[in-house]
Amino acid sequence: MISVVIICIALGILILKYVFSGSGPNPFETDTREPLKEMVHDRKERKKVLKQGFLASKVPENLDAIIIGSGVGGLGLAVLLAKVGKKVLVLEQHDRAGGCCHTFTEKGFEFDVGIHYIGDLLDHKPFRCMLDSMTNGQLQWEPLENPYDQVVLGPPENRRQYPIYSGRTRFPEELKKCFPGEEKAIDEYLRLVKKVGRSIWLLALLKLCPVPVAKFLVYTGLAQRLSFFFKMASRSLTEVVNELTENKDLRAVFTYIFGTYGNMPKDASFSMHSLLVTHYLNGAWYPKGGASEIAYHMIPIIEKAGGAVLVRAPVNRILFNDAKEACGVSVMKGQEEVHIRAPMVISNAGIFNTYQKLLPKELQTMPAIQQQLSMMKNGEGGLSVFVGLNGTKEELGLKANNYWIFAENNFDELVEKYLNAKREESAKSVPLLFVGSPSAKDPTWEERSPGKSTLSLVSFANYKWFEEWKDGKVTNRADEYKELKQAFIDSVLEVVMGVFPKITRDKVEYIDAGTPITNTHYIGAPKGEIYGADHGIARFSPELNATVRPQTPLKNLYLTGQDVFVCGFAGALAGALTCGSVILNRNLHLDTIALAKKTKFMNDKLKGE
Ligand SMILES: Cc1cc2nc3c(=O)[nH]c(=O)nc-3n(C[C@H](O)[C@H](O)[C@H](O)COP(=O)(O)OP(=O)(O)OC[C@H]3O[C@@H](n4cnc5c(N)ncnc54)[C@H](O)[C@@H]3O)c2cc1C
Ligand SMILES: *[C@@H]1O[C@H](CO)[C@@H](O)[C@H](O)[C@H]1NC(C)=O
Ligand SMILES: *[C@@H]1O[C@H](CO)[C@@H](O)[C@H](O)[C@H]1NC(C)=O
Repeated sequence: MISVVIICIALGILILKYVFSGSGPNPFETDTREPLKEMVHDRKERKKVLKQGFLASKVPENLDAIIIGSGVGGLGLAVLLAKVGKKVLVLEQHDRAGGCCHTFTEKGFEFDVGIHYIGDLLDHKPFRCMLDSMTNGQLQWEPLENPYDQVVLGPPENRRQYPIYSGRTRFPEELKKCFPGEEKAIDEYLRLVKKVGRSIWLLALLKLCPVPVAKFLVYTGLAQRLSFFFKMASRSLTEVVNELTENKDLRAVFTYIFGTYGNMPKDASFSMHSLLVTHYLNGAWYPKGGASEIAYHMIPIIEKAGGAVLVRAPVNRILFNDAKEACGVSVMKGQEEVHIRAPMVISNAGIFNTYQKLLPKELQTMPAIQQQLSMMKNGEGGLSVFVGLNGTKEELGLKANNYWIFAENNFDELVEKYLNAKREESAKSVPLLFVGSPSAKDPTWEERSPGKSTLSLVSFANYKWFEEWKDGKVTNRADEYKELKQAFIDSVLEVVMGVFPKITRDKVEYIDAGTPITNTHYIGAPKGEIYGADHGIARFSPELNATVRPQTPLKNLYLTGQDVFVCGFAGALAGALTCGSVILNRNLHLDTIALAKKTKFMNDKLKGE
């Protein structure tokens, strides 16, 4: 008994040490926000920041760290390090920085890749204050409409539409209007979701405290007891929701947002799901000026500290010294390898790319690496369709919101059937589709592209449907590939025109699709994943929770981004924050909370004066 008490006290001290430790430098120490500068729309000017091509001569000397990949998980971490004076080199394989946050322009239409809406950005919230600090106050956020999502269920002849509102009281109130008699189910759903959301801190803690402590918490079952997050993590979304209500449409409305992490409800962890629901509970936002604003305002901070962000810089392997410590990377410049040295290498390229492609063979086979790989699997592939339209948002009936359109309300069957069918069959009717209009969400759009609009359509797609063409050239693939793509495009457009009567074929000026193999090319997703490693229940298994963390089994090699924490813009940034905590030896999660308090205090004081 006494030994248990002693262990508990020792454990308590250790946890406290890691929760409250603050020995390293704090990137949020000083308020770096600057008065808002005029937004730069000129593409040549933006290119100078976002598209700096790799040249050995552009690599700064005496680097403190190299980061592989310029997604928000990589750039975000680089900013954190730069803010405490570290010289960081970010290397990106694509021809522009940003990863899932990059944008591209075709026929005068600018399209986003992986940013449609982001939650949790209320003023004075830690996430908002952190982002303001990480962009020196230059990145602005535009709220979406409320309702921000519309859930559309059923075939055209029997379509039901449910608006989803943000607001802690408005969300349940509006749902209750749509589902009279289901008040109890709605309240209970929200109670569970909020309780899980509140206990996410333990996930961060597990990835920061020493491995033996994490293992102790996991294997004694203390983690589950301490945190509702872990208690609910092993339960599937379908299981929990089916206990709450018999109403099939309400079940669908409770679960529709699975599209934001990619597992059908029966494979989804209720905890993961709850994170997303709470993420949008206080509202949804879009980056003013489009998603490329994110990288555009982060890069100068990295450069100011002497670092650089270079593109067209595919890393082909990580370099190790004889003691098996990471000591640099090799970049392919044409047919030549350029070696760059640094005391620390951090990968934002995802766990599969990092371990399976970038490590030398003899390190890949290390049991500790293999064990981690065996616990993760590749997430679902994505299908994106980009549509450029002739007409303003008013003319086309577009608003700053999203539509989630499903052919049926039984999502488990619907997704399973779609992903397992033959590709020609699935291409004929896509039963789940996300529709958002980036142009309608961005108040600067009208000025930048008068009279035009865009749509971003997203669904899932089985990587195997497209795998046979993966080695072809991206701009010139086989005719069968193009035909298959066209079939998907046609059926997806049909769905859109059914829900948006003002959109007709003659309004379509540009349309093209990105398949899983397109994702491999542009965002380096090995199996065309849309959200990195799979987020099914196994992702939250005890061993995985404790072992997949910023430190790798190899000295001086770290991981950042969505695979370290969870997916999404906020998830990838949480990965960066967790990785930064390890490298700087202080709890940056707590620093963002302190920053939020300080900001609120200062703003209140300003108002009072
Ligand atoms: C279609 C789509 C829609 C989405 N919608 C939303 C949304 O509305 N809201 C939201 O919050 N999230 C959304 N997401 C998810 C979100 O964008 C991602 O989870 C997040 O941005 C991932 O960030 P990351 O830094 O971890 O990875 P990434 O952004 O994927 O960055 C990884 C980078 O590493 C690079 N790389 C890989 N290998 C190498 C190499 N060998 N050498 C050099 N560079 C390499 C890649 O090119 C890439 O740029 C969406 C994603 C997609 C695909
Ligand atoms: C766009 O629509 C307008 C009027 O509706 C028309 O005059 C114009 O030619 C169209 N532009 C294109 C490129 O189709
Ligand atoms: C990780 O998630 C699983 C859900 O499968 C849960 O059962 C387990 O307890 C979690 N791990 C920890 C750290 O407790």
